[in-house]
Amino acid sequence: MTTVDAGWPGTAQVRHSYAALVEHYTEMTADYRRFPGLRQELTDFLAELGPGPVLDLGCGAGRDADLVAGTGRAVVLADVTPELLRATTVRIAVDAAVCCDALALPLRSATFAGVIASGVLLHLPRQYTVTALDNIRRVLRPGGKALISMKYGGRDGWRSTDDFPAPRWFSYYEPTDFAVLCRKVGLRVTQLDVSSRKDWFTATAERPER
Ligand SMILES: C[S@@+](CC[C@H](N)C(=O)[O-])C[C@H]1O[C@@H](n2cnc3c(N)ncnc32)[C@H](O)[C@@H]1O
Repeated sequence: MTTVDAGWPGTAQVRHSYAALVEHYTEMTADYRRFPGLRQELTDFLAELGPGPVLDLGCGAGRDADLVAGTGRAVVLADVTPELLRATTVRIAVDAAVCCDALALPLRSATFAGVIASGVLLHLPRQYTVTALDNIRRVLRPGGKALISMKYGGRDGWRSTDDFPAPRWFSYYEPTDFAVLCRKVGLRVTQLDVSSRKDWFTATAERPER
């Protein structure tokens, strides 16, 4: 398995951008208004999980972690932007919060029944994707599942938009190419859905029992 020794240097810029827009980003993403269908996708995903805690990796403003907590399940927040993570832990009640990079999760192996990674791995250039996926596989319990949201159809690079006026890196995948990378780290892709939300797709991937 190829691994990188350190995180990607560009993550410092991504983090800086989110830190500069904490309030604005929270206002945009803390509920499901702008994400039609997403609440149901997550509810369906959670219903399929065995017992155990869920990791919300790249939790942002914590919309999805809050949904998980509402089901009575333990939930752990993880995000690389301390300012955003701090603001989120003030707003929502969770079991633990860890400021960390998806490329080096400081979490025990085989811990989580589920991992939600919504719009986070796309902030890494593609040579880092396998390492991030391998971290997700490692922290899942055997039989545990990950719901990973990514974008398709664009050109990789730095991008800022009217909605988010600060630079962030975006990597875009064809869903089937992304599924190949999941399999490369030993995750079994059980579902691949192109979303009704613009250029998003989701992969549901399971760590096999053995
Ligand atoms: C597009 S937001 C998604 C937030 C949330 N999951 C949602 O769907 O609303 C991406 C989040 O990932 C975090 N992030 C970016 N790069 C990361 C990395 N390498 N490791 C962990 N978190 C990262 C950012 O700080 C931000 O909170």
